[in-house]
Amino acid sequence: RWLLGLGLVLGFQLSTCTAFYLPGLAPVNFCEEVEEIGFCQSSVALFVNRLDSVESVLPYEYDTFDFCHDSGKKRPSENFQVLFGERITSSPYKFSFNKTETCIKVCVRSYDPGNKDERNKLAFLMKGIQLNYQHHWIIDNMPVTWCRDMESGQKYCKTGFPIGCFITDGSISKHDCIAHPEFNKKNTFYLFNHVDVTISYHREKGTNRSIARLVAARLDPKSYKHSDENQQTCNGPPMEIPREHTNKLNVTYTYSVKFEENKNIKWASRWDYVLESMPDTNIQWISIMNSFVIIIFLSGMVAMITLRTLRRDITRYNQINSSEDAQPDFGWKLVHGDVFRPPKNGMLLSVFLGQGVQVFIMTFITLFLACLGFLSPANRGALMTCAIVSWVLLGTPAGYVSAKMYKTFKGANWKTNFLLTALLCPGIVFADLFLMNLILWVEGSSAAISFGSLIGILGMWFGISVPLTFLGSYFGSKRKQFNCPVHTHQIPRHIPPQSFFTNPIVGIIIGGILPFGCIFIQLFFILNSIWSHQFFYMFGFLFLVFIILLITCSEATILLCYFHLCAEDYHWWWRAFFTSSFTTAYLFIYSIHYFFTKLQITGIASTILYFGYTMIMVLIFFLFTGNWGSLKCFRILAFIFNIIRQE
Ligand SMILES: *[C@@H]1O[C@H](CO)[C@@H](O)[C@H](O)[C@H]1NC(C)=O
Ligand SMILES: *[C@@H]1O[C@H](CO)[C@@H](O)[C@H](O)[C@H]1NC(C)=O
Ligand SMILES: *[C@@H]1O[C@H](CO)[C@@H](O)[C@H](O)[C@H]1NC(C)=O
Repeated sequence: RWLLGLGLVLGFQLSTCTAFYLPGLAPVNFCEEVEEIGFCQSSVALFVNRLDSVESVLPYEYDTFDFCHDSGKKRPSENFQVLFGERITSSPYKFSFNKTETCIKVCVRSYDPGNKDERNKLAFLMKGIQLNYQHHWIIDNMPVTWCRDMESGQKYCKTGFPIGCFITDGSISKHDCIAHPEFNKKNTFYLFNHVDVTISYHREKGTNRSIARLVAARLDPKSYKHSDENQQTCNGPPMEIPREHTNKLNVTYTYSVKFEENKNIKWASRWDYVLESMPDTNIQWISIMNSFVIIIFLSGMVAMITLRTLRRDITRYNQINSSEDAQPDFGWKLVHGDVFRPPKNGMLLSVFLGQGVQVFIMTFITLFLACLGFLSPANRGALMTCAIVSWVLLGTPAGYVSAKMYKTFKGANWKTNFLLTALLCPGIVFADLFLMNLILWVEGSSAAISFGSLIGILGMWFGISVPLTFLGSYFGSKRKQFNCPVHTHQIPRHIPPQSFFTNPIVGIIIGGILPFGCIFIQLFFILNSIWSHQFFYMFGFLFLVFIILLITCSEATILLCYFHLCAEDYHWWWRAFFTSSFTTAYLFIYSIHYFFTKLQITGIASTILYFGYTMIMVLIFFLFTGNWGSLKCFRILAFIFNIIRQE
C-alpha cells in the first residue's frame, strides 16, 4: 500500500513537473508583417534578464540601471524563478520579422553633473562597468549569444555581454575588452550603447505561406559616440565616459538587426548551438571513468569479504559436523546480541532518516526528470520548481520512515518525533533563506524575494508539507516496527579497546573520501553553473554521477561497518550515518576552496549569500547521503544476521 501511495505521488509529480514545462515547449511561428494572420506573428520581442557578475554575487534588475526602459511592462510567464532572482522583463528593443533595420535610435539619456539624481545614475552605471556586470538578453525563449573568434581560431560564445569596458592605468584588465583596440584612453569608461543583432530562422516545410521559426540569436555589442543628435550613423569614435566628467553628457542607445535563413538548424535542436560553446565533455568522461574505477575497486572489496565470510562459515559448519563439540563464535558474530541495540539519541537519528528520505526522493525525481529532458535549460526555473514541489509533496514518506524508525529505536513519544521531522531541517533552511533575504533586501538586489513570496513558502510548508508529514507519522507509528532478525541481550556487551584504524573518527574520515572522489569533478561544473552563471545542461551525466555516489556511499559504509563489527564495536547506527554523510564535509571544504580560488567576490553581503546557499546545499547533501548509507547498512546487517539465525 505504501508503494502504491508513493507511485501515486510520483505520478502526480510527473504530471505537475511536466505541466510547468509545457508553456516553454510550444514553438512560435513567425511571418512577415504583411502576411500576419492568426497562427503566426511578426513582432519579435526582446526580453531582458537581470544583470550579474562573477565579481559580485549580487544580481541587479535591468531597471536598476539607467538603460532604455520599456513603457508598457510585461513579463513572460514564469514560475518559481522569482525566488532565484530571475526577473525577466520586456525591453524597448522590438523587431519585426525579416525586416532589416540599421542604426535605429532607442532612447537618449542625458547626464548633467549639476543634477544629483543624474549624477548618481551615471555613477551606478560606471560601477556596473567596473564590476563587469553582464547583460542577459532573451529572444523567443532563447538566450542571445555573443560569439568571438579566439586567437586559436575557435569560436567562443557566451550568453551574456558586458555593459561596457573600463580601462585602468595599466593595460586592459577585462578579457571581454581585448577585441576593442579603439578603447585606448586610460582611466576611462567605455559604454556599449549599440548592438548588432543577427537572428537566424528556419523555414517550415509543408505550409502554403512563408512561415519560419527562430533558431538562433546572436549579437555584437558596439560603442559609438553618436555626436549628431538626430542623425545616427553608427560609426566613428566610441562612447566614452571620463572618470571625472564636468560637461553635460548624452548617451544614445541604438541597434541594428538583420535576419538570415539557416537551413541546417531545426527548431527542435536549436538549443544545441548554445550548448556547443559549453565546456568540453571529455573531462566529464574522464571523471566518470575515474568513478567507475573506484566503484569496481569497492565492489571487489565487498565481494571478497562476502566470499571470505561465507567460506569461514562453511568451514565452521563442516568442523561441527565432524567433531561434535561447538566452536566458539568469533568476529562480528560475537556481537549478535547487541548489533540491533537502539542507538543513543534515537529521536534525532530517526528524524534525520525521515528527512533524508524526503530529500533523497526529491533529488532523485528532479534529476531523473532533468535527465529525461523535461527540465531543459530552455525553461528557466523549472528545476527549482520541480524540486520544491516534490519536496512539499513528499512529507508523507518522511513522516512514515521517521515514525517507524523511531519505533524501532523503542521510542514512545511519536508526536515530538513528528514535530521534529516536520520542522527541524525545513526550519533551518527557512531561517537561512530569511536571513539572506534580509541582507539582499538591505542591499536592494533583485534576488530578494517579496514578503508575499516568503508567506507563500511558509504557506506551502505549513499548509501542505506539515499535514502530509503528520499523515505519514500517524500511519508509521501505528504500524509494527522494523523487525530485527536477532534478539537483543539485556546487558550490553563490553567493547574491547579499539586500534587506531577501527577508531570511529578515523573510519568516518576515511569513509567520506571515496564517494567524494567520485563526484568532485562534476562538482566543479555544478558550482560553476550556479555561481559563474554558466548553463548546466549535462543532466545525463549528473544523474549517472548521482547513482555512482549512491553506490560508493553504500559500499564504503557497509565495508567500514563490517570492519567495526569484526572489532566487536557494535555502535554502528550513528557511525554508518556519519561515514556516508562525511562526504558533505569534503563538499563544504571544496566550496570554500572554490570561493577563494574561482570567484572574485569581495563584499560582506555577497560572501554571506554564497555561504548561505552553500549551507542549504550542504544540509540537503548531508541528509540524503547519511540516510542512504545507514539504511543500506541496516538492510545488509539484517540480511546477514538473518542467515546466521537460520543456521
Ligand atoms: C493555407 O492558407 C490558408 C489561408 O490562406 C490557411 O487557412 C491554411 O491553414 C493554410 N494551410 C496550411 C497547411 O498552413
Ligand atoms: C525574408 O526576406 C528575404 C528577402 O527579402 C526573402 O527572400 C525571404 O523569403 C524572406 N523570408 C521569409 C520567411 O519570409
Ligand atoms: C543633449 O541632449 C539635449 C536634448 O536631449 C540637447 O539639448 C543637448 O544639446 C545635448 N547635448 C550635447 C552635448 O549633445
